[in-house]
This record gives sequence, C-alpha cells and structure tokens, in this order.
Amino acid sequence: MGANRHRLLLGITGGVAAYKAAELARLLLQAGSDVQVVMTASAQRFVTPLTFQSLTGRPVITDMWNGGVDNGMPHIELSRDRDGIVIAPASADFIAKLVTGLADDLLSTLCLARECPLMVAPAMNRQMWEHAATQRNMRQLEADGVTIAGPAAGAQACGETGFGRLLEAPELAAAIEAWFEAWMQPKLLRDVRVLITAGPTFEAIDAVRGITNLSSGKMGYAIAQAAIAAGADVTLVSGRTCMGAPKQARLINVTSAAEMLAAVTAETSSCAIFIGVAAVADYRVVTPNPQKIKKTKDTLTLELARNPDILEYVASLPQPPFCVGFAAESENLVEYAQEKRRRKKLPLLVANLVQDALSRDDNELILFDDEGAHPLPRAAKSVLAGQLIAHVAKLYRNPALTQKRKAS
Ligand code: C5P
Repeated sequence: MGANRHRLLLGITGGVAAYKAAELARLLLQAGSDVQVVMTASAQRFVTPLTFQSLTGRPVITDMWNGGVDNGMPHIELSRDRDGIVIAPASADFIAKLVTGLADDLLSTLCLARECPLMVAPAMNRQMWEHAATQRNMRQLEADGVTIAGPAAGAQACGETGFGRLLEAPELAAAIEAWFEAWMQPKLLRDVRVLITAGPTFEAIDAVRGITNLSSGKMGYAIAQAAIAAGADVTLVSGRTCMGAPKQARLINVTSAAEMLAAVTAETSSCAIFIGVAAVADYRVVTPNPQKIKKTKDTLTLELARNPDILEYVASLPQPPFCVGFAAESENLVEYAQEKRRRKKLPLLVANLVQDALSRDDNELILFDDEGAHPLPRAAKSVLAGQLIAHVAKLYRNPALTQKRKAS
C-alpha cells in the first residue's frame, strides 16, 4: 500500500474508549494513512497525547491558542490539508456540540470550519445513547451529512450492557476505509438529476387510521446523501419518516402511494436517474371513511385495491430514466430479486433481506445487473449507499451497456 493514501485528522474526545483510538491510529498508519491527532481536554484525562505522538510521529494538537501551525489559526489550517475528519470516540457532549455548531475548543471549532467530510464514532453509556436528546442529535448529524459509525452493543465500562460501545479498532478502520472509498470518488454524478423515493406510504382507512409499514427511510435518505456527495442534483420524494432530509436535496413530502405517484410523474421527465427505494403499499382502501369508524360491529371488512407500481410505470415510459429498484424479501432473495428485475425491466436491482434491513443502521445488499450479482457485505447504510451510487454511476456512464439494453 502506498504512503499517505488518506490524510486523516483523528479527533479524540473524553471517554474511557479513548484507549481504543490508539489501536485505531496504529491500524490507520499501517494501512498507509497520514494521521494527525487532535485531542480535547477531557480526552487527555483518559489517554496522554504522548501515546499518540509516539504512534503517529507527529505532535498531538490540543490547544486552540498554541496549535503549532504557521498562521496561528489551527482551527482553520488543520483541516484544510485533510481528506477527512474522524471523531473516535465521540462523546454525547461532543455530538451535541457538533449538532448545535458550538465551537468552544479546538476540535469543535475545526469541525465547524472544515471543508472535508466528517465521520463520528459515538461511545457512551447506554442510557446516554438511548436518551431522546442524543437520538435527536444523531438524526440531525445524519441529516447534516455526517457519517455515523456504530456504536456497538455489549458490556460497558460502567458495568451496564447495551448500545454505546465504540466499535472495535479493526471494525472502525474498515468503516473508515469504505467511507473514504465512497467520499473520495470523483464527482461521478456531477449535475445529473436524480429522483429518489424513500420511506413508507400510508393508506388511509378513516380519518385517523391507515395501513403502513415499518420502513424508516434510512436507506433512501442515505442514498440521497451519497448521490449529493457524488455531485448529483437530488429530488427526494418521501413518505412519512422521522428523518431529517439532506439539506441540499429538494424534498417533496407525500403520504399515500397515489401522492407519491403524482409527485414522481411530475418529476420524471426532468430526471436522468430514478431510484425507487420507498416501501410503497401494494394495496389501498377503496373508500376511506372521512370520519373515524366507530367500533359498533364485531367484524369489519375493508375493500382493498391494487396500487399502481410507481417504479414499473417509470421504467416502462418510452424514454425512461436509468431506473434502479429495490427488492426487500423475507425468503428466496436471489430468485425473487432476479424475477423482479426482469419483470420491471430494470437495469439495476438492489436486493436485501427485510429482516436484516428494517429500521437498522446497517445492512447487506446484493446488486443485480446485466453482468450478474454484486454482493456488498454488511456495512453502515451510509457506506452501502456510497458503494451503490458508485455502481449506478458506472452503469449510467457506460454507453455500451445502455446500447446493449436498448437493443435487447
Ligand atoms: O414488487 P415490489 O414491491 O417488491 O418492488 C419493490 C420495488 O418497487 C421498490 O423499488 C419499490 O420502491 C418499488 N415499488 C413502487 N411502487 C409500488 C410498489 C413497489 O415503486 N406500488
């Protein structure tokens, strides 16, 4: 591996997991990265800067006012020559600072002044992790385009068990590698208009009830973020989710499949790529009751009608955009996915097992295209989204493949 493959700034914040950052620094250096460490004051209560200085061969920077950089402005200078910043471990307090844009020490200030991408690897007590404030902050960080790695579940230093452990150093090193691969792509979809559907649909039964599903929208939102990172001009048509949309995307909120179809129909003629990630309800209630149905009868029968298949509709247009579909299956993944790709006439279909995917932050995918199957091993949805967008861009940019499809 060549020297200085990635120029990385490793930020260490206060937490007992700071000791794992030493092993992480060693692995990153071994993989050929150039690592500059910045520590917060509380990080230094757990591990000394000397540990990292000895490992990296570079002075560790800890002070806003004496950063050892030529122009005396370490908060700006330090991130400018970096390909990315990784905060590991990231404490609950530091995450809250990132979300609000607080900049009261060197590490938080340089995160605010950065031009490069940011990855955060949280580590904290399980109750701090589960707290509504932390969960809200994590959603906001994701919406701000920050990549999240972990945390893992297991025994904690405090004696409790649950989510909040920093990922192990080899896992983190692999996540960083995959993240760089995704981010350091040239702008593969620069100015290409990409239309993405995400989240569940909600089909009304009456004034307050409806039929929906467990889709969180995480995968679709991660794909929107990855497409933006690749330079695309993204429109996101989203069912109801708790996610914050990437701020550079044009967001169209919808509720039902019919609304989703209307929004997609209005947008398709101006898009070059369509990625249907939404979990669209297959059926809707024929006549939703405008009032709340009273429980006067022992049984209630709902008449359902098939919803239009949005993806199939777009893919069968005379001049379709490059269409990508998803297949979430609970069994016979490969067989069902291949059949779906053929039936919907899709150049690319992304398959996953529903039980692996729903509401989780990670997933495992298989991409099916004319060349065959391309498995993407388990990783954070943000990492998989980057890999998927790279694959989409490769197919979309390959005129030979497009010609071959048109001829077939
Ligand atoms: O056939 P199935 O519902 O499993 O297909 C899933 C794929 O089709 C997804 O890409 C989904 O977004 C899309 N779809 C759609 N409209 C529907 C049903 C599915 O766009 N009514």
